Amino acid sequence: MAISETTRTGLREIADRYPSARSALLPMLHLVQSEENEITVEGINVCAEVLGITPAEVTAVASFYTMYKRRPVGKHHIGICTNTLCGLLGGDAVWDALSAELGVGPNEPTPDGEFFLERIECQAACTHAPVMTVDWEFMDDVTPRGACEVIEKLRRGETVRSTRGPVIRDFDATEHTLAFPLDGLADAPSVDSKMLAGLTIAKQRGMKAP
Ligand code: FES
Repeated sequence: MAISETTRTGLREIADRYPSARSALLPMLHLVQSEENEITVEGINVCAEVLGITPAEVTAVASFYTMYKRRPVGKHHIGICTNTLCGLLGGDAVWDALSAELGVGPNEPTPDGEFFLERIECQAACTHAPVMTVDWEFMDDVTPRGACEVIEKLRRGETVRSTRGPVIRDFDATEHTLAFPLDGLADAPSVDSKMLAGLTIAKQRGMKAP
């Protein structure tokens, strides 16, 4: 699929935000991914062209970060954190349940292109372990049954909300937001008392950083 003129304009707009244009590469790759559902050779070439760097330099970045996919993701990206804390608190069981529900293993899409399942690393969300992400939106304190219910609702086309508020859209839409974060969709900061417990106690005790 050819990169559209709209996306090319967006890539140039992102590059213009930075004093050093090559600093724009990460959001540019998200924009390419929002159009192509993966990072293709053409997407790499267009980024290189806009930034005046080589395709090899773009490939080095795109192949380093796991959020950039070199195969089509499909409609929804499902991430299960199976790092130590999430794994111990139930992430491994969530993984087993979803892998069975979807009939796929790690980094595999379902045959209908609706879901792509991935074991993900720590999302810095251990306060609410185990966590699952749907198109990078958090599902906190997830259980095997709860995770499967999310999949069932998405299959039925029902509205699903992250436990932190945002409505789940799809992978491509989230990728576009990662390229253009000021899209007006963010509302209240998604923090709760559990996340702020350490800070609250530090304040109560008058603790200060050295
Ligand atoms: S170990 Fe899963 S979010 Fe940190």
